[in-house]
Amino acid sequence: LQETRQWRPLLHYAPARNWMNDPNGPILIDGVYHLFYQHNPVEPVMGYISWGHATSRDLLHWQEEPIALPSTPQEQIYSGTVIYDRDNRSGLGTDENPPLLALYTSVFRDMPGEQEDGTQAVSVAVSLDRGAHWTRYAHNPVLTLNPASRNFRDPALCWYEEGGYWVLTAVEAEQQIVKLFRSTDFLNWEFLSDFRPPGYHTPEMLWEVPVLARLPIEGEAGSFGWVMIVSVNPGGLTGGSGTFYYVGDFDGTTFTPAEHPTATDDPWQYRWMDYGPDNYAIVCFAGTPTPVSIGWMGNWNYSNHTPTVPWRGQMTLPAHLSLARQKDSTFLIRQKPVSLGDPEEVFVAAEIRPEAGTLWRLPDSAADCADFADAVLDLQMLIESGGDVAVLTVAATEDGRFGTEILYDSARQELIVDRSRSGVPVPDAAFTTRHIAPLSLQDGAVRLRVIVDRSSVEIFAADGLVRMTEVIFPSPHATSVTLGSYAGNACFRSVKVRWFR
Ligand code: FRU
Repeated sequence: LQETRQWRPLLHYAPARNWMNDPNGPILIDGVYHLFYQHNPVEPVMGYISWGHATSRDLLHWQEEPIALPSTPQEQIYSGTVIYDRDNRSGLGTDENPPLLALYTSVFRDMPGEQEDGTQAVSVAVSLDRGAHWTRYAHNPVLTLNPASRNFRDPALCWYEEGGYWVLTAVEAEQQIVKLFRSTDFLNWEFLSDFRPPGYHTPEMLWEVPVLARLPIEGEAGSFGWVMIVSVNPGGLTGGSGTFYYVGDFDGTTFTPAEHPTATDDPWQYRWMDYGPDNYAIVCFAGTPTPVSIGWMGNWNYSNHTPTVPWRGQMTLPAHLSLARQKDSTFLIRQKPVSLGDPEEVFVAAEIRPEAGTLWRLPDSAADCADFADAVLDLQMLIESGGDVAVLTVAATEDGRFGTEILYDSARQELIVDRSRSGVPVPDAAFTTRHIAPLSLQDGAVRLRVIVDRSSVEIFAADGLVRMTEVIFPSPHATSVTLGSYAGNACFRSVKVRWFR
């Protein structure tokens, strides 16, 4: 199989070869961002799950490191988290050299030699050299359900300042329960509570990768709110996997959703981290001054079959998270992509008003320094809808036959992404269609930011309150950008296009 270099992301992490899914234990330590991840080191499909490792100084350009935790015939290494035990509470390092701890999911074989996956439990691995080498703790696992469960996984940690202890969240996936525990030494865990609100549950749904986090409230210095982010599969709005969240309160024992409509089983009443199909298993970095998230840019329904060679899977752009108070005094999570650095080239236009039936095309000269195909495109604009449907097409071919369409329909107040003509389709027909996010007009306009890498489109609308993420597999010549509208009534203002590498 020939390498698909045209789809190799420039500013998103992807392993050089083989399979990747969830991010695990991202952490900033001594000025270096570490990313661990679910990785099959031997095949470009799910299996032999180990923890891969990569490092970065800017969250955009990554260096792949040796495998951190390899799977063994007895144990696969499913998702989990990494923490810097700076006071050596675990006793697994020394006061002079405190350890990094990985709390990961052990997927044991029930019997030696047996191929069936068995018990899942939380185990610990230790690094005394800032993540370069890891040793499994001698008394693993440190946390097992009683009776043992075959679907207890994905530990994440949150420091509870008021109580002076760590809170671990993990799921019992099939039961759709988040289980909360506490500890001060990372080795002994005491059960706190179960979180399983009523509402949107289906018999086949799995709850995965639960994240309890305290997020800063914008404009209110020093105030924070609690959120619980849960990845569900199936159950995502576009089908397959997706990630929703609850805003609420955590009292040290129990997480209680606040204004959330837990009484309804309508998924559209929920708050979603992303309205596209490709943003799953979202977790937060440890050690950053403010919360920064990262997700797997994939979907369990088709990611095992996407057409990239010799790797399969990439991460989303990391994003800053905060809570934005709404007019009705409820909260939404805002996600702002991390800085993309200094652009290679910039194009600005105060106002673009394409007439009906014509398309405005981003002039080639705007980027003649850069080979278009070989840079990440970052578009920002305010769309005054004029009651019309505005259409932004990215990764388009010159002849207009291919492209990814981003539409704003002001009558329906919907943001729509259509990747049915993006290029090589994702290998599941149910996912090549339109995806929709509710997006209300603010003073007759919507604000849009769209970041296009070689095989992805990430949309941040309403300054990051609405996010849509889609993988695409365009032809290498699909580098055009056009603007238009159905009736010629939409106006694109403050258009800014920047190119990054
Ligand atoms: C989420 C997930 C986790 C599990 C891991 C296995 O995508 O299914 O629940 O730990 O991936 O790779």
